[in-house]
Formats: sequence, C-alpha cells, structure tokens
Amino acid sequence: MIGGAPGMGRGYVGSPWELRWEGLDLDQLQRTESTFALSNGHIGMRGTLEEGEPRGMPGTYLNGFYEEHELPYAESAYGYPEAGQTIVNVTDGKIIRLLVEDEPLDMRYGHAANHFRVLDFRSGTLRRETEWTSPTGRRVRVRTERLVSFTQRAVAAIRYEVEPLDAGIQLVAQSDLLANEPIESDTRDPRVAAALDAPLLNEYTKAERYRAVLVHRTKRSALRMAAAMDHQIETAGTLRTAIEVEDDLARLTIAVNVPLGEKLQLTKFLAYGWSAQRSIPALRAQVDAALEGALRTGWDGLLTEQRQFLDEFWASADIEIDGDPELQQAVRFSLFHVLQAGARGESRAIPGKGLTGPGYGGHAFWDTETFVLQQLTYTLPDAARDALRWRHSTLDKAKERARQLGLKGAAFPWRSINGDECSAYWPAGTAAFHVNADIADATVRYLNATQDTEFERECGTELLVETARLWASLGHHDPHGGFRIDGVTGPDEYSAVVDNNIYTNLMAQRNLRAAADACERHPDIAEALGVDHVEVTDWREAARKMRMPYDELLRVHPQFERFTEHAAWDFENTPPEKYPLLLNYPYFDIYRKQVIKQADLVLAMHLRGDAFTLEQKRRNFAYYEALTVRDSSLSATTQSVLAAECGHLELAYDYFAETALTDLHDLHRNVRNGLHMAALAGSWISIVAGFGGMRDHSGELSFQPRLPPIPQRIAFRMCFRGSQFCVEIHREFAVYQLVKGSPLTVTHYGQPVTVTEDPVAMPIPPGEELERPSQPAGRAPIRRRAPEPVAEESLPAAPIASAVHRA
Ligand code: BGC
Repeated sequence: MIGGAPGMGRGYVGSPWELRWEGLDLDQLQRTESTFALSNGHIGMRGTLEEGEPRGMPGTYLNGFYEEHELPYAESAYGYPEAGQTIVNVTDGKIIRLLVEDEPLDMRYGHAANHFRVLDFRSGTLRRETEWTSPTGRRVRVRTERLVSFTQRAVAAIRYEVEPLDAGIQLVAQSDLLANEPIESDTRDPRVAAALDAPLLNEYTKAERYRAVLVHRTKRSALRMAAAMDHQIETAGTLRTAIEVEDDLARLTIAVNVPLGEKLQLTKFLAYGWSAQRSIPALRAQVDAALEGALRTGWDGLLTEQRQFLDEFWASADIEIDGDPELQQAVRFSLFHVLQAGARGESRAIPGKGLTGPGYGGHAFWDTETFVLQQLTYTLPDAARDALRWRHSTLDKAKERARQLGLKGAAFPWRSINGDECSAYWPAGTAAFHVNADIADATVRYLNATQDTEFERECGTELLVETARLWASLGHHDPHGGFRIDGVTGPDEYSAVVDNNIYTNLMAQRNLRAAADACERHPDIAEALGVDHVEVTDWREAARKMRMPYDELLRVHPQFERFTEHAAWDFENTPPEKYPLLLNYPYFDIYRKQVIKQADLVLAMHLRGDAFTLEQKRRNFAYYEALTVRDSSLSATTQSVLAAECGHLELAYDYFAETALTDLHDLHRNVRNGLHMAALAGSWISIVAGFGGMRDHSGELSFQPRLPPIPQRIAFRMCFRGSQFCVEIHREFAVYQLVKGSPLTVTHYGQPVTVTEDPVAMPIPPGEELERPSQPAGRAPIRRRAPEPVAEESLPAAPIASAVHRA
C-alpha cells in the first residue's frame, strides 16, 4: 500500500487547478470520497473507486429524492413536525468490477506501484490511474475518468480503460447498476436506520444488448426513480458479452483477451430521473431519452461541453491568490464544489452538504440563502434564482406551517428536503425564525444584482410579502414605542428562545422594508396578494421602530436582550477535548452563559453593516471574539469578513484559511458525511466581502479592498447586472476592469469608479495599527504562516490568471 503523498493539505498534493491524492489510504477513503464527489446539483456521486471496494461509504444521490420516517419525541407537544426526511442512496451506476485473469481488482490485495486520483476543476472530471499487480503477479494499468454532466442534467459517464503491462491477459469487466447497496448506517436513530435499510422497491427492469434500466420506488414517500446505463466497448481482442437483470441489479459482463500493447476501453453512459408523479413508462422513457442524447453527444462531446461550461464559469468567477499556493488550490476547490451543488439544481434545494454525502440527512438550511447564494448570486446568478424558486415552490407548506403556529404569512422550515419542517428540536429549529429573513435577504440581493423583473414579479415579491407578514405577526409594539421580536433563536445556537436578537431584528427590518418597496413597485401583484396600503404602512412602522438593544455600560450591542449580563463561560477550564460544547455540556448551562457557537451579532454587522458605525463594529467585534468558540463551520467566514473590515488583516487571513481548509483538512472531523457547503462558499465570501470589502447594501456595489500580509496579490471576478468585472488587490492600490458587458459604476472607499475595459487603478488608504483581539482560551485560529517560496516555473500559469495579470 502506498501512503498519502507529501505536499499540501494532509495527503492532497498542491496544484492550482486540481485536487490530487496519491496512494491509497484506506482510513482516508471516506473523506476523499466526499472531496472527490461529482455533482451537477441534480445528480451527486461520491468518489468511490469503480470496483466498489474497498470503500468508505458509497453514495449516489438525486436532489430531492428522500425517504420519510417517524421523528422521535420523548414527550409530545403541539406543532412538532411528525415526519422526518432523509436523502436516499439511490441506484449506484459507478460500479465497474474487473477480473484480471482470475483475480478481482481489489487494492487491498496485490501491489499498486502507482495509484492516484485527480479532481480537475477545469475539465470537471475525476480521473484515476492505477498500476496494479495482482497477487498472482499479473500487471495491469487502469485509467478511469468520470463526469456528472453540467450540460446534460440527467447524465453521468465513465471512461474505463485497462491495459496489460507484461503480457496478453484475459479481462472480465462487470458494469453494474446496483440498487439497495448495503451501507453502514451513520444514524443513532433506529427508525431512520430502518427507513434507510433497502429503501427501494423494484417496479420494473429491462436489459438488452449493452443497455439496462431499473425503476424503483421508495416505500413511504412514494417517490419513483429510474436509472439506466448503456455502453460502448472498444478493444482489439474477441469479445464476449452478456447482460442480466434482477430486481436490484443490472449487469453487463464483458470478457476479452487483450494482447500486450492493446487495451479494453469501456464507456459507460448513465441516466437518472425521479418523480413523485410520473408513471413507470414515463420515467423509463425519460432516462432512455437522456441516454440517447448522451450517446449522440459521445464521450468526447460530453468532455468538450463540460470544459466549455467550466471555462465560462471560471471566466466569471475565478479567484487568484498569489503567494499562497495551498489556499489558491483550496479556494478553487471551494468555488468548484459550490458550483457543483447549485449548477443544475433547478428549483430544488441546495442541501447543507450539497450532494456529496448523507450528512444532515440531505437537508437544506439557512446555509443556502445566507452563504451559498452569496457566491452564486455574483458568479452564477441563474443558479441563485433557481434555488430561490425552490423556496417559492414550497410557499404553500410554509404558509400552512405559519397557520399551524398561529402566525400570518409564511414560516419556512429550519431544515427540509421537500419544504416540510424536519427539525425535531424546536429551540434550534422552529424558533430560528431568522431563516425567513435570510430567504428575503437572498431575494433582495439577487434582485439588486440582476434586476430580474420577471423573477421579481413571479416569485420575489411574494417571497418578500409572505415573510414580511410573518414578522408583522410574530413581533409586537411595546408600550415604550419599540417593535419587539421575542422568543426566537438567532444564528448562534448556544443561545435559544431569546428576546430581540439583533441579527433577527435587523434582518426582519430589511425584510419588512423590501416587501413594502416591492409592493410599491408592483401594485398589481400587491393587490393580487391582498396587500393594502395599511399593511404596507404597518410594515414600515414596525421596521422604523425595530428594537436594537445596546449596553450603555459596556458600549457594545448585546447579541440579544440582556446577553451581556449573563454569566461568563469558564473557558480557562474547558479543555480542548470538550469541544464541540454541545456534545459535552448540557444545553441548559450553555444557554444561560456568555458563550457563542457561531457568529451572530458579528454576522449582523456584515449583512446589516449599514446599521453600525465603524467604531461600534470594532468594539463589538473585540467583545464577541472573546466569546466565540466556532463549534460551527459557518462561523470563521463571518469572523474573517469583520476582522478585515475592522482592520485586523492578519486575523482575517487566519479565519479565511480556516474556512477554506475546513474540508481539505477535515477540521470538524466529519467530512466523511459530506462537504460543508456554507464554509466552501465562505471562501468566496472571505475574499470578496472580506479582503475586497464588497458590500451591497441598498443595491449599490461598494468596495474597500485591502491586501492581507501573506499574498502579494488577490484578484477576483464577479458578475453584476449582466456585466462581468475583475478586481485586483495590490498592497497600495486596487485595479478595476470590465471583462464583459456594459460599464458599471461601483465605489472604492466611497469614491465612484466607472469600471470599463480600461483598467482603473485606485489608491488604497493606509490602514491603522490595531491590537489583535483575543479568542477564548485554546480557540484562537491557527496563525497562517507564509509558505516556503516556490520556484515560479513549478506553478503552471492558468489562462485566466494571465488574463487578469494583463489587466
Ligand atoms: C449550525 C447551523 C447550520 C447547521 C447546518 C449547525 O451546526 O449551527 O447554523 O445551519 O449546522 O450547517
């Protein structure tokens, strides 16, 4: 067995445009299956080896395809969600087993002189090469490449090649579609485990020549899915093939004698589809048609389409970090995975883990709107629109939930796959009403960034109106002339059911105003939604009077009312192994002390930065830094953004590194369950909102760029109102340049800049020397050190990189 390769990122080899792992580390398989996952937002495939074993946790997912199960409650009460939903591992089409003479290719046996896997961010494929000697001494080279197509949403494909290295050899390849693949359950809840044990019931099978199709249905949620495969085979030897099909297995077997100097080349085309309504013949026809399309395009065509799609993406979204190759790689890895999660979701949710693993049951959270959609709005706006369309498509359920809770408007779920609330823990579920304002905020951001009036008329206004109605009914006017929102949980889950959480209040304020503005822009839609002048006036009044508590003594904003009066958490006597706190201390104690799981007030200072002065931000930031333990992967991003704004550039870079390396370094020790989409999007946010200082309050784009100490230059690209432009940050100046579309105006430290094809350089004012704020004992981020200098020629120059250089 070969060990993990030297280089960067604990076993990953550094390279600016790919993620490579050399050697086979059995105990690292689960996490590399997540990082090597391929997805287009509709289909997701974990990076398991083609031969199926050894494996960590196989996984193939279809966005929105889940099984239902009961939710466990020790005591029942009104309004608890009754059913949970969990993403299903669907029919696995990745499997191609190989028999080399009479030995199955299994890397736990024999010897691999060479074995590596590469996720290529520009080709959008996962490649693998293995030189393997069987226990009986036969040597073969296996090369594979697979993709989940960005351009043909229902399609995935694998190119599989085997060549003998010493002498002619007999090879038998078995290409499978396998349903109800046994997997170890990760859940401690026996009900969930039971629901996921062989969740698929066969409804139809068919196999002919090189093609097969399996149709299955889930037992309880009654969703139907079809998976189909077809093959092209090229080889010099004489071929014998057989196809067979059972309820849960379709298999094409290919036997061939391959002479030395020749190879067996197999191309496997896969098509997937699912529906809650379509019949068996309709679904079968759908996957058959998708397969025909893929065969017509062919392997080379699929590769070309994939490359073109990604070329366009990188042209509008790339980030360059000169002088820190590891973070350069990490940031592109992040951009790539967020793209994969959202590209072709098309009116389905973007789950917290994307489609990279079964973590969080495949649920979507506020992570999508608050983190993932920041990146997508400014890099692939159509994907942001589609994710918001998913929320809109679930409005009826959200309105029903609000009604059940005795509220008006819509109460969107804290966690869900199909729009129904699935959180069984209401203090950090139902009470986290801020998800509604987060959806509204993402809607406002998208509308400002795109001026997509069609979306505004079809979905946006209604989303804003129904969420505003929720706030109007959830809050109330107090006798002192303020509008209060009591008994809610903010982003920080180490406090629950609190009064006047500032984040919630400020986001609700924006929500109420945005709804009023949208109704005034579209009176016909307002009328259709039953909004009258009185309601709009009420929203504006509630927004104007929104409570924002302030601690006069400490001169900071309490995260919620009286927070700063709570007892301090004893950080000094909390040893490192007691983190995350939620697994080691009772909630009752966590809730009543000053300890913060993740940025909350600090997040308010980012997203509602217009509600604070710089002086307030600096004082608040220092105060909350000393209390925040970052037990959530969502926190470091926001701390990075605010650290940068407050002038702590070095600290901001440390937090950026933590965000960007969350999955590559498996910082939360759970990457095996899937990647953290919010943290991945956080890489983009840290760069653009942190070091670029980009803000979009009130629809204007403003920048306050500043370079952190380690990189010599940072450049990022983004889209705004149909134009693409690039911002390049140097130590003393920043350069703005239009890449595509019409010129646009932004501000640079408050000064208007017209961005055109001619680069404009703007000076960066000198920063202030500030004292680094401190964190709870043992919870400071790792100090990022400047990497050892690397010889220029060993870093391949990227086309986009050089284009930006010329700017
Ligand atoms: C965080 C939530 C987040 C969820 C899913 C939790 O640990 O506290 O804010 O939505 O994870 O990522």
